[in-house]
Amino acid sequence: MTTAQRWEGPAIFVEDVYKSFGDVRALCGIDLVVERGKVLGLLGPNGAGKTTAVKILTTLLQPDRGRALVEGRDVVRSPAAVREIIGLAGQSAAIQEELTGRENLEIMGRLYHLDPDTRHRRAAELLERFDLLDAADRPTKGYSGGMQRRLDLALSLVSHPEVLFLDEPTTGLDPRSRLGMWEVIRELVARGATLLLTTQYLEEADELADEIVVIDHGKVIAAGTSEELKNRIGGDVLEFTVDERDRLGEVAETLRALSEAEPTIDAETGTLTLRVGEGGSRALVETVRRLDALGVHTEGLGVRRPSLDDVFLALTGHGAEEPADSPHGRRRAGRRA
Ligand SMILES: Nc1ncnc2c1ncn2[C@@H]1O[C@H](COP(=O)(O)OP(=O)(O)OP(=O)(O)O)[C@@H](O)[C@H]1O
Ligand SMILES: [Mg+2]
Repeated sequence: MTTAQRWEGPAIFVEDVYKSFGDVRALCGIDLVVERGKVLGLLGPNGAGKTTAVKILTTLLQPDRGRALVEGRDVVRSPAAVREIIGLAGQSAAIQEELTGRENLEIMGRLYHLDPDTRHRRAAELLERFDLLDAADRPTKGYSGGMQRRLDLALSLVSHPEVLFLDEPTTGLDPRSRLGMWEVIRELVARGATLLLTTQYLEEADELADEIVVIDHGKVIAAGTSEELKNRIGGDVLEFTVDERDRLGEVAETLRALSEAEPTIDAETGTLTLRVGEGGSRALVETVRRLDALGVHTEGLGVRRPSLDDVFLALTGHGAEEPADSPHGRRRAGRRA
């Protein structure tokens, strides 16, 4: 396809894609559609198949079955054409650590056949934009985790990609660096890039994604905007913390009848969560009465709208950051920034 015949379909189109590694079924019939200029948040716990999906879309892996198109270009039949228009910041960073940040960017420019002048200019531009000018001429092995992530993203932008794949761009970053990365990502989207972003952080999907696809065990288990997903839960969530952690089970048992689903306990933080439907205030009054009768001291008792965290738990029965087969009780799915 030439640029004259611009593809009118979605920027990313995935239909019924399967991928196994020996006995491990990483993807079992995934469908995805991302319109041009939009952000898709691909959300799922460890091992859900996020990276496998990204690798297929960026031509690093071939699907066993199904079809994947990026701007109308088939990843299996025209991998070179796909690579021309994409950028990837992956989980295994593309940085050469014995080289400086600037050298890394220049080499990437050479790979994309930019002439020397353009290469230098582009490297300088990206170093500035990602706040790496001070460290530009130091070997990257001395960079902090946040600086490496920023350089990795800068590397993926050298060629001005139309479609960008970011595989967990903020995992391991401190809250401030994460906010900085969000800002950069928003800026890219404002300039018209299409973005597929994988994340284990629900709040990240909530913040950045126009549409969220939740995958688990290689299958899509829910899709929609953040609001649509939250509305699915229906009604309110009642939550509080119990000081005496050893009484959490007893408290949950006492309140079970007030919840539309099994109460969830986070033993680490002593938090108990109930799904109380539309009758939030009635449930609140009744909860206070029962807790009084038990003589249990609580903190932060209140009713709130469901979060994406609650949605994820309702859908999968486990938090986003823990593997599906985790033997442990529930942990908070999204670390709060
Ligand atoms: N090269 C490989 N060889 C064997 N198994 C693999 C390979 N790559 C992925 N898998 C398996 O496929 C499944 C999906 O892995 P994938 O890396 O896509 O998950 P993910 O959602 O990206 O997880 P994470 O959140 O940990 O990055 C896992 O069970 C994983 O162990
Ligand atoms: Mg992954």
